[in-house]
Parts: sequence; structure tokens; C-alpha cells
Amino acid sequence: MKQWSIAVIPGDGIGKEVVPEAIRVLEKVCEVRGDIALQFTEYPWSCEYYVAHGEMMPEDGMETLKAHDAVFLGAVGDPNLVPDHISLWGLLLKIRREFQQTINIRPARYFAGLATPLAQPNDFDLLIVRENSEGEYSEVGGRMHQGADQLAIQNAIFTRKGTERVMRYAFEVAKQRRQHVTSATKSNGIFHSMPFWDEVFEDIEKEYADVETKKWHIDALAAQMVTHPHLYDVIVASNLFGDILSDIGGAIMGSIGIAPSANINTTGEFPSMFEPVHGSAPDIVGKGIANPVGQIWTAKMMLDHFGETEAGDLLIKAIEEATKLGFKTPDLGGAYTMEEVTDEICKQIELLAK
Ligand code: NAI
Ligand code: MG
Repeated sequence: MKQWSIAVIPGDGIGKEVVPEAIRVLEKVCEVRGDIALQFTEYPWSCEYYVAHGEMMPEDGMETLKAHDAVFLGAVGDPNLVPDHISLWGLLLKIRREFQQTINIRPARYFAGLATPLAQPNDFDLLIVRENSEGEYSEVGGRMHQGADQLAIQNAIFTRKGTERVMRYAFEVAKQRRQHVTSATKSNGIFHSMPFWDEVFEDIEKEYADVETKKWHIDALAAQMVTHPHLYDVIVASNLFGDILSDIGGAIMGSIGIAPSANINTTGEFPSMFEPVHGSAPDIVGKGIANPVGQIWTAKMMLDHFGETEAGDLLIKAIEEATKLGFKTPDLGGAYTMEEVTDEICKQIELLAK
């Protein structure tokens, strides 16, 4: 039996509520399948931990995490205890950077029974593959002068290595899906980096003759994701473009409470990290109404990453069944509690496994 070791960081706010629910679902999957074993080790690193210890994680925290196959994280941030930039940089961004999680993937798809803001949701099912380590989010640049002479220069950094890496990843996942990759570009307006992006894309697409491709300028593509999201399979994008497109992806699904994400280390040297898109939601903490689906779908992405795709499929089908039957938390217009939604997903896993 295959065994996977998972570092669990519930973090703050509703992270501490939805993570145990997702673990409950994962344990149900292991129970009904009988061919996978997941070992969970929990770490209490959070804003409360910071208040007690003066740091978001212990000195040897990264060393500790490195021993696991994956990091499963809830949400980080409690602005009443610790300023966001300290909690974010001390934990979440620290892990993403030091573990070289250079690619961020975020799926967006339509679930029957969920109200999306789209008039014609048309069964969309797409995956945004975002460069997560360079591009427009660089620290290169500077500021000079004061008053009316003030100026700021922000440089975007596109390396061949980073650009090829994210594009190859996109083509590889497209092979497992519907064999289509869309490149988000802006080579008509951005003079250096985006023509370079296009050139690299043209090189990489030659390696994947079976995968169809298309290029779209980012402004038109953003509009397309609202009007025709069903036309897209995998979308590969730079750091900034991917950030914006994945928020549109979350919005057209109906609630940020269901959106999952993965931060991937492509070399296998360090663990990858799986976390829902949402934050710690201080406004609903303690009410028992947090939507557990984002964290549970995130668990499916982790199973897929381990190569346990049958188990991952079982999990997403169970989510689909539960939403179809109307098991929805208030953020989706339902009246069910977090626990009731999780219970139904567990029940569906049992039914589907029969
Ligand atoms: P947020 O995602 O925590 O909440 C935004 C809105 O969405 C709130 O109204 C919240 O109730 C709702 N919401 C979020 N997740 C939900 C769920 N699972 N079920 C039902 N409703 C849900 O973003 P916000 O309020 O901007 O940030 C709160 C804290 O979380 C801050 O400290 C922020 O820095 C942190 N944060 C952390 C992230 C992470 O750990 N990856 C991501 C975003 C924010
Ligand atoms: Mg964003």
C-alpha cells in the first residue's frame, strides 16, 4: 500500500475549521479505497503562534516540512494579531519561495446546482497555469527623487528557464485533459517581454504536436473567460496575467469558498503546497458556516499530484453530487452548515465507491 506523508498547517481563522473537514474526507477516501494511506502531521504555525513565539514558524520549520511529501495548508492571516505582511511573508510566501514552488495552478469549473454570475455557464472546466516566481512580480527596480520629480521603475523579469518551465507544465497537464493550451499574451502592447513569451511558446508547442494551441491577448482573454469560458482547457499565463485570470475563474464559479489551488515544485526537490484560494475569513469564523469545498477540492489536487488520480476523481464526483443535491453553505445561497456539507460529501464517497 502506498503511503504519503503530509504536513498539515491549518493556520488561522476558518483555516482551522475547514482543514479538519478536508482531512475527514481524505480519511473516508482512504477507507473506501483501501489502497492508499495518508499520514498527517499537524503544525500549529499561525498568527497565534507568532504572538506566543515571536515568529510564524520555528527556526528549523522549513527543514521539518521538507521531510514530508506535501504541505496541506488552510489560510494564514489574522490582522487583529499580526500585520498581514508579517504573517504572509513569514509563512505562506516563505514556503512558496524557499521550496521553489514556481508554478501555481488553479482550476475553475461549473458545478450543477451552483448559481454562477454567468447567464449561460455552459459547463466550463478550465485550468489556469500561472508562473509563480518571476514576471511582473519582481523586486527589480527602484524609486528616486521627491515631490514633483518622483519616479518609480518596476522591471518585469522573464527568463527562458522560467518561461519554458511553466509552458512545458501547461502542455503536460493538457495531455491529461482535453489537449488544448491557450497562451495569455500581450505582444501587441508590451514591447520586450511578451514577444519573447510568444517566441518561447512557439518553441515549446513544437514539442507537443498532439496538443492544439491558441494565443489570446490578455484583455480579450479576460473578456472571453466571462462570455465563453467553456472554450478553454489549459491557459498558461505570466505571474500577473495568471493572477488576474484566476480571480475571474473564482468569480465565475460562484464563490471564492470553493476555489482550490496548488503551488508546484517541478523538480521534486521540495514538497509542493496545496491551499484553497480563500483567506481566513474573520467575518464568519466560529459560526460553523465556512464552505469546506475549497479545502476539499484542494485535497483532490494533492491526490492527483501524488498520482492517485482515481481517488482524486472519486473526491470531485462526491463534491459534484453533494452540490447537485443542494448541500450548500450560505456563501452559495444555501442554509447548510460546514459539517453538514462535509457529511454529505463523505456519504457520497461511500455511495460512489459501491
Ligand atoms: P477572505 O478570503 O478571507 O474573505 C473574503 C470574503 O469571502 C469574506 O466575506 C469571507 O467570509 C468569504 N469567504 C472566504 N472563504 C470562504 C469560505 N470558505 N466559505 C464562505 N465564505 C468565505 O479574504 P480577506 O477577508 O481579504 O482576508 C482575511 C485574512 O485572510 C487576511 O488576513 C488576509 O491576509 C488573509 N488571506 C490569506 C490568504 C491565504 O492564506 N492564502 C488568501 C487571502 C487572504
Ligand atoms: Mg489574486
